[in-house]
Amino acid sequence: MNIHLETLNEISILLNKSTENIDFEKIMYRFLEILANKVGMQRGMISIYRQDLEEIHVEVTYGIPEKRDRIFYRLGEGVTGTVVATGRPIAIPNLNQEPLFLDKSGARRSLINRSELAFLCVPIKYGDNVVGALSVDRVLEGTDLQYEVDFLQIVANLIASKVHIRKIIEENIKLRQTISQNIHASPIIGNCDLIKEVIELIDQVADTNSTVLITGETGTGKGLIASEIHNKSSRSKFMLVKINCGAIPENLMENELFGHEKGAFTGAIDKKKGKFEIANNGTIFLDEIGELPIFLQVKLLKILEDRSFERIGGTETIKTNVRIIAATNKDLEREIAEKKFRSDLYYRLNVFPIHLPPLRERGSDIVLLTDHFIHNIKKELKKEIKGIDNLAMEILTSYNWPGNVRELQNCIERSALITKDGIIKIEDLPPSIKMGKVESCKRIKGTFDSLVSLYEKSLILEALRESKGNQTKAAKILGTTKRIIQYKIKNYQIDCRKIN
Ligand SMILES: Nc1ncnc2c1ncn2[C@@H]1O[C@H](COP(=O)(O)OP(=O)(O)OP(=O)(O)O)[C@@H](O)[C@H]1O
Ligand SMILES: [Mg+2]
Repeated sequence: MNIHLETLNEISILLNKSTENIDFEKIMYRFLEILANKVGMQRGMISIYRQDLEEIHVEVTYGIPEKRDRIFYRLGEGVTGTVVATGRPIAIPNLNQEPLFLDKSGARRSLINRSELAFLCVPIKYGDNVVGALSVDRVLEGTDLQYEVDFLQIVANLIASKVHIRKIIEENIKLRQTISQNIHASPIIGNCDLIKEVIELIDQVADTNSTVLITGETGTGKGLIASEIHNKSSRSKFMLVKINCGAIPENLMENELFGHEKGAFTGAIDKKKGKFEIANNGTIFLDEIGELPIFLQVKLLKILEDRSFERIGGTETIKTNVRIIAATNKDLEREIAEKKFRSDLYYRLNVFPIHLPPLRERGSDIVLLTDHFIHNIKKELKKEIKGIDNLAMEILTSYNWPGNVRELQNCIERSALITKDGIIKIEDLPPSIKMGKVESCKRIKGTFDSLVSLYEKSLILEALRESKGNQTKAAKILGTTKRIIQYKIKNYQIDCRKIN
């Protein structure tokens, strides 16, 4: 095995072992130690990008005596700051000639061989986001700088999910404390920009009479938002009347909404008020509005226009002072195109649209929501639930949550029931969530492909060195054809003139 593969092998064994829940700093120190022992790294540093502070904090170091708490960079500052800001690696072949290099740790000031040191820094990326940087310095002894950068990028990819989870846990420590103190302050948990925008919209619209249309996938909190709008309005002294347009049979729906007069139909022995009348002065919440049959859509349109209607079998026009909130997980514009939803009704409803983001786009809100649901379930179960461990949290943050917040809530409640010692661990999570790590599977595949390419490139380079740059001979050494070698050389952008 060549030395790079050996290194990858050791690192993968280390990272697999971490299911035993060794702490982040220990694992990462061991990781840097492997790089030092195997591939001649002299100093190493793992930094985390703290989005909340817009700073990059050095978390784990190897070979640097200075206390790391004091080292941090602003976004764009120095090499590390630039790598995080741009998401691109930087390789400095010679430290003495680089003004970007700040040496904040001071570890290299007294070095005599400083001019022989190369400094490599690669971004640590989780999905499309840069979560930190890995930097090393090392003596380059005729090694190919680009190759070393590629290699470092691969090992950085391997630790990306660990760095990501560490980052969101750190970012949330403060926030988690504040939230646990004011857990009842707002029923809407979340701190990501998308949810902050939603909260702002609620504040703008709550105390008006505007019709609100809430859209979003199943389980994103549409019902919760509807209640919040009502509660924050001056109508909160009156009723919030909910009606699920998808759950009531079509032939009963009209009666539910508008009520009937005595004798309106067989069995109508008494007058009955409909939901619109009951909701007078308050709010009516028409959930699953996309399920409303076309003939009722016409009647609803009339109410929206002049807030008046007639009971079934009645002639009297009844006026109602009601605020309307509707919600749907359907794409109403598509429903219109398919002639299942009236466009005039859509425009009447869509006065003030609020769209709820899916949970997978809400980043570290998963951590906050998890805490929130643990807090709630603790009160419900007669069981001490202390929390969730980091590895289980890592699984939760990398899952793609098709059922959104509701699915997370069910998952936490189930896991809290199962856990034996009050700390939710991977084994307590539902199998669907453990299996469904779609995102991370994609990432692992990406890493695997780049590993294969890197290995192939290293084999070709070795063969070319052996054949002194002669491609026909190199092809023979590798047991392949000259055409394939030529193709790969072009693909990997290997410069044969530089082979020695
Ligand atoms: N931001 C949030 N903070 C706290 N709890 C939330 C949040 N969003 C949703 N929930 C909770 O998640 C569960 C699902 O939310 P809700 O029923 O409002 O979703 P929905 O969008 O109406 O789903 P559906 O389309 O299936 O009707 C509820 O128990 C709700 O209280
Ligand atoms: Mg709902």
